[in-house]
Amino acid sequence: MNVISCPSDIQSILRSKLSVSTIGFVPTMGNLHDGHLSLIKQSTKENDLTVVSIFVNPTQFGPSEDFNEYPRTLETDFEKLKKYPVDYCFTPSVQDIYPNYPQQSTEVHVPDYSDQFCGKFRPRHFDGVCTIVMKLFQCVPAHNAYFGEKDFQQVFIIKKMVNDLFLPVQIQTCPVFRQHNGLALSSRNQYLSESDQDEASIIFNSLKFGQTLAQNSPSLSPNDLIQKVLIKLQSCSNLTTQYLEIVDEDTLQLSTTLSKKPRFVYAGFYKQVRLIDTLKI
Ligand code: PAF
Repeated sequence: MNVISCPSDIQSILRSKLSVSTIGFVPTMGNLHDGHLSLIKQSTKENDLTVVSIFVNPTQFGPSEDFNEYPRTLETDFEKLKKYPVDYCFTPSVQDIYPNYPQQSTEVHVPDYSDQFCGKFRPRHFDGVCTIVMKLFQCVPAHNAYFGEKDFQQVFIIKKMVNDLFLPVQIQTCPVFRQHNGLALSSRNQYLSESDQDEASIIFNSLKFGQTLAQNSPSLSPNDLIQKVLIKLQSCSNLTTQYLEIVDEDTLQLSTTLSKKPRFVYAGFYKQVRLIDTLKI
């Protein structure tokens, strides 16, 4: 595996391979877990070359969020990557990506979708995500890019950006990867002890409860279903829900019935740790 940190170097190497190889790309912020590794496996299966990026992107963290504390584990990440046929690991610095940081530079903003759900609680988060993903797509001219479904709103917005800007990359979404107790894998889970992680699995169990309820009572309104799931979530005193909504998968609009393509989207704090989850109903 070649490790490259200079944007123009990786760009010129990969451009020279574009016409003969399909390139799969897995953008990450490092601290790789089995969820990331499932994306990497998928990419290595479907492409001639696989590129993984590791970059903790400052512009997607709010001023009171965990940018400084976010786990940076480059050496362990390399050890994990070496077990897969990954060809390049792109590890730019903040200076490489944002030469004038913290001064503002060109940004990508996807209107409407960026200001709801997580965007309501994390203003400008999705501008940071879209800007870095756009920059990474310029450095890594991939045919396919792989993202986890756990960040359902993120993937939806990235697809919209790709479509609006005619980017020649296919966005591939991989299923949520869960622990044995159902908790969705996230680098932030490691801020929690094992027993906390067990208790936090109430998020998945409540969504699953809601899914079963909807399947048994399809005439239930989305609002009634949300209220029933919220009661279950509220039984955990360590959990503070930020939002629980049912959205149409194709439009990211609030569902008015359960008959189309409804999906739960959830965010909340378990103690001090922000966790998100999603489940197709
Ligand atoms: O999902 C993530 O890990 C990040 O938001 C991403 C897509 C790598 C951009 O920094």
